[in-house]
Amino acid sequence: MLDNKPQSLQFPDNFLWGCSTSAHQIEGGLVNDWSEWEKSPSRLQELKDKQLDSLDFISGAAANSYENNNADIDCLKRLGANVYRFSLDWSRIEPAPGEFDEAVLEYYRNLAIKLKAKGIEPFITLWHWPLPLWVRDRGGWENKETAVLFQNFVLKTVAYLDKEVNYWITLNEPMVYASQSYIAGEWPPQKKSRLLAWRVINNLATGHLLAYVAIKKINSLNQVGLAKNNMFFEASGGKLINKFLTIIGNWWWNFRFLDKVVRELDFIGLNYYFHNLVDKGFGRPHIYEKKSDLGWGLHPEGIYETLVGLNRYKKPIYVTENGLADKDDRHREWYITEIVRNMHRAISEGVDVRGYMHWSLIDNFEWAYGFQPRFGLYEINYRTYERIARPSAYFYANICRRNGI
Ligand code: FCB
Repeated sequence: MLDNKPQSLQFPDNFLWGCSTSAHQIEGGLVNDWSEWEKSPSRLQELKDKQLDSLDFISGAAANSYENNNADIDCLKRLGANVYRFSLDWSRIEPAPGEFDEAVLEYYRNLAIKLKAKGIEPFITLWHWPLPLWVRDRGGWENKETAVLFQNFVLKTVAYLDKEVNYWITLNEPMVYASQSYIAGEWPPQKKSRLLAWRVINNLATGHLLAYVAIKKINSLNQVGLAKNNMFFEASGGKLINKFLTIIGNWWWNFRFLDKVVRELDFIGLNYYFHNLVDKGFGRPHIYEKKSDLGWGLHPEGIYETLVGLNRYKKPIYVTENGLADKDDRHREWYITEIVRNMHRAISEGVDVRGYMHWSLIDNFEWAYGFQPRFGLYEINYRTYERIARPSAYFYANICRRNGI
């Protein structure tokens, strides 16, 4: 930019602005492989050894959203959002193989109806990581058959919600799941095996394909995609070796999974959080001007490169997640501003970006990190479950309302 005058940037008509959440992180009262793992003796021991309070790491009532989703809808309304990405919990809907709980399906249908009545488009994720216990017991995604079980769940669920919902995300971040659960071995089922990770990735890809076919069969107008965590791999110093490693990083982390399923994708969901400095290796230390409460270096300009990278697929792109843990709201406004500018830059260069869903609407249960990281535009008081707007919520509301910044 040539001068420092704030520029006003307008987004395309019908651009979607909103927020993202997931069932396990907000609903409360779930019984699935994650909730069981959180309370397992080995996990409790691990927390004890680290002198951490286990209550902070058990999802329990989470943000109490299942009981009171009106509170979340109210937050969305106050933001002037026109889209809300949330997920369904498989174990709630299908607590035993082939047994579907109509009351739960009706609950989710009602949520979609309420959102639409307020002018908010429901964007539904069908699988955002936790598995029903009976699926876990059959080997989870290590087992090929899980792709078929997933398809059955999707068929029943989408048929039930079809009239209210047009946008479907089959899987959330398959590569993150495979690497956290099967390479790092940190998340359930805590295995460390590259072979299993490879298998899980392939089965997830099959799961996506089968789900895609099922959703399109129900209604060919349904828009189906997946949410992919892509990073900006940057070659340090422009050195040849680093450029070469960047190609490998892009191939393995950013594009390989998408390449497998691209014919069965109506859109791509991008979850953008990370910059990865490549210097004779990946994730090299880098001095970030600002960091989130989790110590994640904030590099909002990388969303531009990431979006340009995805443009190779020539599909519409929705940013289905982006945000930061920032309890005191020190960086959120700046971060959103930079993200929005860089999205605008990509759009002005011809990348078909159609929406932005901030992670997250409310504070929530951040997986293995528990309740400490605060990602919400709205703060949660975990005693009363009151939602309290952080200053950045007002700032983001201005963007949603003006369709620009
Ligand atoms: C993403 C997850 C989401 C949330 C954010 C912070 O990888 O999809 O559930 O935990 O990170």
